[in-house]
Amino acid sequence: MAVGQGAVRDLAEAMPGGGGGLVPVHVAIIMDGNGRWAAARGLPRIAGHRAGAQAVRRVVEAAITHKVGWLTLYAFSSENWRRPAAEIVDLTGLLRHYLRSEVAELSAQGVRMHFIGDRARFDADIQNELARAERVTAANSRLNLVIALSYGARAEIAAAARHAAEAALAGTLDPAELTEDKFASLLTTAGTPDPDLIVRTSGEQRLSNFLLWQGAYAELVFLDVFWPDFGEAHFAGALAEFARRERRFGARPG
Ligand code: IPE
Ligand code: IPE
Ligand code: MG
Repeated sequence: MAVGQGAVRDLAEAMPGGGGGLVPVHVAIIMDGNGRWAAARGLPRIAGHRAGAQAVRRVVEAAITHKVGWLTLYAFSSENWRRPAAEIVDLTGLLRHYLRSEVAELSAQGVRMHFIGDRARFDADIQNELARAERVTAANSRLNLVIALSYGARAEIAAAARHAAEAALAGTLDPAELTEDKFASLLTTAGTPDPDLIVRTSGEQRLSNFLLWQGAYAELVFLDVFWPDFGEAHFAGALAEFARRERRFGARPG
């Protein structure tokens, strides 16, 4: 997918009476700080993850309100499997509960769900819930919600490279035709616009293996708020910051 100037639209067009600035088509969020939110309250980490799930509800509503077309949420990285077994059990349990209890409501809101990452690492019942969520929301178009689960950008890129190498060996892909667009079509995000804006909460300023290919020209916004405290005002603030940025894509300023 081309890193596109076409990936932003005019706020005046999107919001009657509004003016100036640009609304990103695709916002991606690294939802970080659940553990520190809990620790600050003397609570176990699972309490932070539970509160983080509530914040997911708020950000979905905010994305709909602000007419963002795509929202990607980094919920669990391929490296998060390194956490203690008890926390993994808590997180997968919460995911199971979230999928069972939220999908109907999300679908009623017009949300289409997609999942990226290595879903084969989850229990079979969770894999079934993921497939079900994608199936029952497939006709929705108000907001595309992509949830990154057991996702790591390097693994994603390596898998695409492996796929291309196999196709070349099988004679179905001419290496000379492996363009950027062709390569992007082999990633799990094929068909998804590149993120215009990547937000990370919790004060950390790093990507932690998130959308390394797709985020080549994303604007980065780092917020000093723990994910469970994230709300509409933070979302609006990140969009306002985005609107102030000048995107150049390597071209001459001006
Ligand atoms: C984000 O919060 C949730 C996941 C990575 C699963 P953390 O659990 O990373 O919370 P902190 O960064 O330790 O505060
Ligand atoms: C990134 O957060 C992954 C998610 C938010 C799902 P981490 O808390 O895992 O990242 P590091 O370890 O601080 O880089
Ligand atoms: Mg963290």
